[in-house]
Amino acid sequence: MSVIAPRVRTVAFHPLIEPPEVSGSGKVIRRLNLNESPFGPAEEVVVAMNAAARVSNRYPDGEASRLISLLSADMKVEAARVFVGAGSNELLAASAEITLDPGTAMVAPSPAFPTYKKLASIRGADFIGVPVREDGSIDVDAMLSAVTPSTRLMFVSSPHNPTGTVMRPDEIMKLATHLPADILLHFDEAYYEFGRAAGGPETLPILQHREGAWLSTRTFSKAFGLAGARVGYGVASTPEIATAIRKVRPNFSLNIMALAGACAAMGAREHAEDLVRFILDERDRIAAKLSAMGYRCLAGAANFVTVLPPLPAAEIAAHCERNGVLINVLDWGGANKSLRITIGATEDNDALVQALGELAAQQNQSSHSIAS
Ligand SMILES: Cc1ncc(COP(=O)(O)O)c(C=O)c1O
Repeated sequence: MSVIAPRVRTVAFHPLIEPPEVSGSGKVIRRLNLNESPFGPAEEVVVAMNAAARVSNRYPDGEASRLISLLSADMKVEAARVFVGAGSNELLAASAEITLDPGTAMVAPSPAFPTYKKLASIRGADFIGVPVREDGSIDVDAMLSAVTPSTRLMFVSSPHNPTGTVMRPDEIMKLATHLPADILLHFDEAYYEFGRAAGGPETLPILQHREGAWLSTRTFSKAFGLAGARVGYGVASTPEIATAIRKVRPNFSLNIMALAGACAAMGAREHAEDLVRFILDERDRIAAKLSAMGYRCLAGAANFVTVLPPLPAAEIAAHCERNGVLINVLDWGGANKSLRITIGATEDNDALVQALGELAAQQNQSSHSIAS
């Protein structure tokens, strides 16, 4: 007899192992598979985190009052509706915690951030995955049709991971106003800054039209280069929902260095803005090169590009890995599946293009020798 509840026992375990920086053969490993920032945080953020390390004998402010007041002023939302957590991952979990019981259901796009499905499974709730459209966009009508009386929670992300697509204002409005009021709509905006810089909508004013509960979560992991520090935040439709999230969060999960870093990052916005601009420009440059090599790039706006390749995605990823470049294979997108490639520093992206160019040349050569 196991002490582990069946709902947990039956969930597959996928260890989150940090890829090394250098391979066994001494080759640099380029991590274009985790949607990280290739650059560290602003210098003043590092200074603030260092200073906080000196007082890490103390517990942090468990309610993150300073960070919450900075976020509240920045988003022009009352502080009672703002909440924070150790990465937005913790806030996705908090959403599941306040809504799901065994026998209830969560609706989310498919493919999506894999955590959504895991959060449903470990709570004994059903996961209903709604296929995205052929262009990678979320199908709002299909999402609404997937709702049943057991549905308690719906996740959507925009820009969407793993396809990068951004929801249009009318689509967000439809979802917000047509989703039954007794379902929590969780709008996951981990790539918010990229979506906005690319002309995507400001979601909060649209979500305000929803009668039922909603929340939007964002993160310091991507645009602010703080993935390793683990800071996420969010806004809820009402103080009551924000309080429920605060109730279920593990105490003091946001550590004293992370808090200091996030507060300093709020005062160093140009650093994040420069990073976002650089990544979006590089994304365009790399997408053009990949398109020229026969890859179909999905229209999107995040720190990654998703492509439908001319060869099996797994073969391409294996070739890139042999050349020190890690990219992600998605179990989606037709016979060849698809690839999600994080935009890195210029030299990382160049190494990717070079590896793909070599693969194309090898393919050409072998098809010529077959033909001759
Ligand atoms: C869609 C989406 N949501 C949430 C997260 C979690 O980010 P974090 O926990 O680092 O804030 C990620 C990370 O990649 C993501 O892609």
